[in-house]
Amino acid sequence: MRTTVQGKTILLIVGGGIAAFKALELVRELGRAGAKVLPVLTENGARFVTPLSLSALAGEKVRTSLWDLEDEAAMGHIQLSRAADLVVVCPATASLMARAAAGMADDLATTLLLATDKPVLMVPAMNVRMWLHPATQRNIATLRGDGITVMQPDDGAMACGEFGPGRLPEVPAIVAAIGAAIAAQFGSKPLLGRHALVTAGPTLEPIDPVRFISNHSSGKQGFAIAAALARLGARVTLVAGPVHLATPAGVTRIDVMTARDMKDACKAALPADIAVMVAAVADWRAEVSPQKLKKDGSAPPPLSLTENPDILAGIGHHAQRPALVVGFAAETHDLIPHAAAKRLKKGADWIVANDVSEGVFGSDSNHVHLITATGSEDWGAQTKHAVATTLAARIAAHFSGSK
Ligand code: C5P
Repeated sequence: MRTTVQGKTILLIVGGGIAAFKALELVRELGRAGAKVLPVLTENGARFVTPLSLSALAGEKVRTSLWDLEDEAAMGHIQLSRAADLVVVCPATASLMARAAAGMADDLATTLLLATDKPVLMVPAMNVRMWLHPATQRNIATLRGDGITVMQPDDGAMACGEFGPGRLPEVPAIVAAIGAAIAAQFGSKPLLGRHALVTAGPTLEPIDPVRFISNHSSGKQGFAIAAALARLGARVTLVAGPVHLATPAGVTRIDVMTARDMKDACKAALPADIAVMVAAVADWRAEVSPQKLKKDGSAPPPLSLTENPDILAGIGHHAQRPALVVGFAAETHDLIPHAAAKRLKKGADWIVANDVSEGVFGSDSNHVHLITATGSEDWGAQTKHAVATTLAARIAAHFSGSK
């Protein structure tokens, strides 16, 4: 931690929520770790913490208004938005995120967020209903699509008496996220010059013009892996089945529908140094009826199924096989032996195995095991984002020869 934020400047925007008091603790921890904090307090933030306490802890003047002529003379808001190495919004309220997602610039905080050319980390805190509201989730998806990192709030009892996600993460977790954001910006890019091919999401196999066979894959884990590899400098080609997710920054995305489209897109993307096949490819496709199948009162039409090509096995045994091939294995029982057998059968170097009886599809967390030629490791329950970061780091270590 000390090595990552030490000597770095953080522009901290404190929004108006009951969690604002924790921003004071955050300022103190960042100061202890050797960072300089430039505090900005929104009008509503000032209802929860005083400018005086914030400036006393930061050892810096607190900026509150877009219209402070003295500040504009000393350092205008455009310069202020770029003076820091990282912009952190803590707490990020539903309203502040909505205005930022809409590109509004109606106070100092939103103007700084629109004008900055630096990475932005938002740390949300709000009532559980407000967090779960589709409008908030839509705004968060927009912000993430714009390249902003939005932390996942904690679950638990809230100040308002309700229970669920929406609590500000604990200060050490926020400090760690700030460290990771700084490291991503200033750290080395160990995968620079490497090409990574990643598949994600389900495939969709039509039955007739209106029906299809598919599965519950959300694509979240594959997209997170594509993003993590790109952050480490890899050139990433992401072949995605039909999912509603924003393309991660710096990733080239190819949208496909069927397994055969996915296979063609993967082959066309070669050569690659790394292949991470996360997609939940439909095992079978149906013979497609050119017209909508009709109920005619007699027996239902038979579905004639054909097995789809195994894309991972095709890449694992390809003449242009990437140096490192990673597959995924979703299992409901005997996780490790099944995944180890799959590793050999498909010609993969590693298999990331997860127990899908634990309800992984669509969720933000995942409990995986990494299976290599030398054994298996239990990575415990983590967010999909954390699994992606760990896997990308592990891939980088493999190429640097340390694993
Ligand atoms: O055989 P199974 O579907 O369990 O294997 C899972 C792994 O194989 C995943 O990495 C998945 O992306 C890949 N796979 C594939 N093509 C298929 C089936 C699975 O690439 N047709």
